[in-house]
Amino acid sequence: MKEIDMLFKELKEIKTKLDKNLLSDLFKSNPKRFEEFSLSLDEMILDYSKVHINKDALSKLFEVAVETKIEEKRDSMFSGEKINNTENRAVLHTALRSKSNQSVYVDGKDVIPDILIELEKMKNFTNDIRNAKILSSSNEKFTDIVNIGIGGSHLGPEMVTQALSPYCNTLKVHFVSNIDSSHIEDTLKDLNPSTTLVIVASKTFTTIETMTNANTAKKWFQNSLSEEESNLHFVALSTALEKTKAFGISDDRVFGFWNWVGGRYSIWSAIGLSVMLAIGVENFDEFLSGAFEIDEHFKTAPLEENMPIVLGLLGIWHRNICDYETRALLPYDQRLSSFPRYVQQLDMESNGKSVDSRGNELSIKSGPIVWGEPGTNAQHSFFQLLHQGTNIIPCEFMIAVNNHEEDMQMHNDLLIANCFAQSQALMNGRNLDEVKEILKESGLSEDMIEELAPHKVFKGNRPSSTLIYKKLDPKTLGKIIALYEHRVFVEGAVWDIDSFDQWGVELGKELASKMLTYIKGDEVAKSIDSSSRGLLNTVKLWNKD
Ligand code: F6P
Repeated sequence: MKEIDMLFKELKEIKTKLDKNLLSDLFKSNPKRFEEFSLSLDEMILDYSKVHINKDALSKLFEVAVETKIEEKRDSMFSGEKINNTENRAVLHTALRSKSNQSVYVDGKDVIPDILIELEKMKNFTNDIRNAKILSSSNEKFTDIVNIGIGGSHLGPEMVTQALSPYCNTLKVHFVSNIDSSHIEDTLKDLNPSTTLVIVASKTFTTIETMTNANTAKKWFQNSLSEEESNLHFVALSTALEKTKAFGISDDRVFGFWNWVGGRYSIWSAIGLSVMLAIGVENFDEFLSGAFEIDEHFKTAPLEENMPIVLGLLGIWHRNICDYETRALLPYDQRLSSFPRYVQQLDMESNGKSVDSRGNELSIKSGPIVWGEPGTNAQHSFFQLLHQGTNIIPCEFMIAVNNHEEDMQMHNDLLIANCFAQSQALMNGRNLDEVKEILKESGLSEDMIEELAPHKVFKGNRPSSTLIYKKLDPKTLGKIIALYEHRVFVEGAVWDIDSFDQWGVELGKELASKMLTYIKGDEVAKSIDSSSRGLLNTVKLWNKD
């Protein structure tokens, strides 16, 4: 870690010097800044010219990449080494979308043949459901699919289905994740059990939310169907075959995957079945191909041209050198409204760690808080703080050049104009003199100008990047997700953490099962804190109202 500390110190010195120039000055002094600080890959460009950075800082960041062995670690991941050391697992979501026919070995076994068998099974099932070859227990065509799952077994499928809604036909897909009864109630209440297929998506098949919702769905079916009939309305996506069988789902209705697929990286596996049912087999293949293209690029492009590596290093610059606590993800695409939520799990469950991969306390800051909303909506809520608040928040804009609604070009032009205007405003701001001049032109008195002007100042100099792509089609979405996955990998590699475990979610689960015994009537432990006791007493008091 010594070397890294030194490199970070040097980067901070570069930043101190760079801070003497405004971001906007960097454009004035270099007309080629866009060309020099952007990366292009097929029909996707990452413009990071509005990040407050220079060539010196970038080359130092590439030294960080070399020092922290990002490329070696990347190769270990792709080759099936057990890089998730706390769970002793390989990390091979990339194998799920591989189009190269190259073998990948885990414990001496090539995993590719099994992946292809499972993918083929998913495709056949999808075609049979969409073409009404597989029918419901009452011999009707399935009309609705309900995916029951949480975390990685929900966020990816829902986000991708929403994002690709122009490609969704034939079936309506719904998602139930929360243990809150309102979620399943509000989803099932308008559906017809005779034409509904429920997918129980759970890697472990033990997650309490998913199993509780799955059992409620079973009861819902059994209000009108026999147990045997109801079983024909279930499919499972899991690595736990004995558990799916015990639930009553026959093996031919179980789509498997493997322990080297992390939950938040599982959209490419059987967990993507709801997506495949929604968009069809060919579109799902395109989605996988997009991700594969990014994998190939990540594996082969030199550091300076490598989009995930550059994006990751910009993250390091903002987190460790500029000390920014959060980053905002701002898709200018309503269909990507769940993308920030998806990346929150991907990024924060992966890199929200305080110890390194050997268990030593980290001496540097790890994963930032990731949040965001689609534009233009967000412009009318939290953008106030982005422009004039006391925190500087690096913004990551995302925008397609083309929309799917060809007869609504005006919407698209306005969307793009707003996206570009925001990054420009964040960078340039508007200083006091400019504000006063504008107020003067509007005819205000000197007193009023003095009073109002400070409120209308935008300090500017706020960093952003823009990911621009031709159209949000299945292939492009596959690329975007893979880009963000690998960015998380790059940052985790610099921090030297295990980005593939998630022990931080366990304690709450454990305590919830103890809490449940109290809610069910067990005597509350004497040692419990007074807040928890007070809350439990309130439940007891109000429970029967
Ligand atoms: O609780 C966190 C987590 O383990 C996630 O990592 C995972 O995506 C989610 O729960 C769901 O797990 P499963 O697919 O096993 O139900």
